[in-house]
Amino acid sequence: MQAEVVADRLVYIFRFIYCGLYLSVWKERIGGVVPVAATMRGAEHVTLQAVRARAHPNVALVKYWGKRDLHLNLPAVGSISLTLGGLYTEVTIQPSKANRDEYRSNGRLVEGAPLSGLGRFLDLFRALSGRQERLSIEAKSNFPVAAGLASSASTYAALTVALAALYGIRLSKEQLSALARQGSGSACRSIWGGFVEWRRGERPDGSDSFASRLVSPPDWPITVIVAITDFQPKHTVSRDGMRQSETSPFYPAWVASQVDDLDEARRAIGAGDLERLGSVAERNCLKMHAVAFTARPPLVYWRPATLAAVETVWKLRAAGVPAYFTIDAGPQVKVLCRTQDRATVQGALAATPGVRKVILCHPGGDAQLVEGFH
Ligand code: DP6
Repeated sequence: MQAEVVADRLVYIFRFIYCGLYLSVWKERIGGVVPVAATMRGAEHVTLQAVRARAHPNVALVKYWGKRDLHLNLPAVGSISLTLGGLYTEVTIQPSKANRDEYRSNGRLVEGAPLSGLGRFLDLFRALSGRQERLSIEAKSNFPVAAGLASSASTYAALTVALAALYGIRLSKEQLSALARQGSGSACRSIWGGFVEWRRGERPDGSDSFASRLVSPPDWPITVIVAITDFQPKHTVSRDGMRQSETSPFYPAWVASQVDDLDEARRAIGAGDLERLGSVAERNCLKMHAVAFTARPPLVYWRPATLAAVETVWKLRAAGVPAYFTIDAGPQVKVLCRTQDRATVQGALAATPGVRKVILCHPGGDAQLVEGFH
């Protein structure tokens, strides 16, 4: 046998062993998504084409707050959200001209911890595809980022859809959701439009922890109005806030009472019952922030205008307008109301001292590729 033929066969055998090894290692890491690199042999010579995807942020009505596994980003509790149309992040990915991953968010070069986090996320897809190129990523959001408006959710959901397309990996929405979860937990919900539930899951490998869509009455006329009270990025990112909150004496009660809130919200959504949904959303939000307030050291995401907006909502309700607030890890207030009341609610929030801007959102759709982009 000629030396080249032997060398060729050896390379083939080593590749086979490599694929087998990483099939077993990565099956656990990516939460039940079976790597496809073994089926893509030869595809590494195809030049990657630029892709673009878009996803909406979501507002949590029953909140994810606390983790049961930091490494796999598994939640301590299930959560339910509504995807917000009108707001979106668009992510464009292409092979990097430099020999490293590059990331720009709204035109600014991102470095440090957020870039390392992104690099680890890209590695999941590099392992899935068997390709090693460094990538250039450009994210553009049409709303303030890192300010409690779930920009990490829309960014990682769009990234997930774009990366699967870039590498030509066919995945179900549940698999996309399980992958997005590892970039940022709330991103697993932004893969879907409408009302979405992320199940906590029980398995240690996270394979049962992904989001799926909840059934709600078709064309339920519901609107979310976002009251921006501060444009600055939040002082404590959710990941750190969650860890800090575990020190609260109320944290175990928060986790234990989540099952009932999820059940209540699921029933309210199924029945199209705004009052029931809004009531549980407000209760759940206040519980989450009570846990944060009572952490050591205390964690306060609210600004004076946050409380002022909450009082506006309560006044509206006292005047007969069914409006309900929720607040994520930041100072902005999101108000759920009937579409027919949107002008009244918008006007009342805009007139609240300290409210800087008011944004109207309707329920948004699934994360998807931006077609025809090249
Ligand atoms: C308060 O999804 O941003 O908005 O998984 O650490 O990236 P990581 O956290 P992230 O947390 C969101 C927290 C929340 C509630 C929610 O969206 O359910």
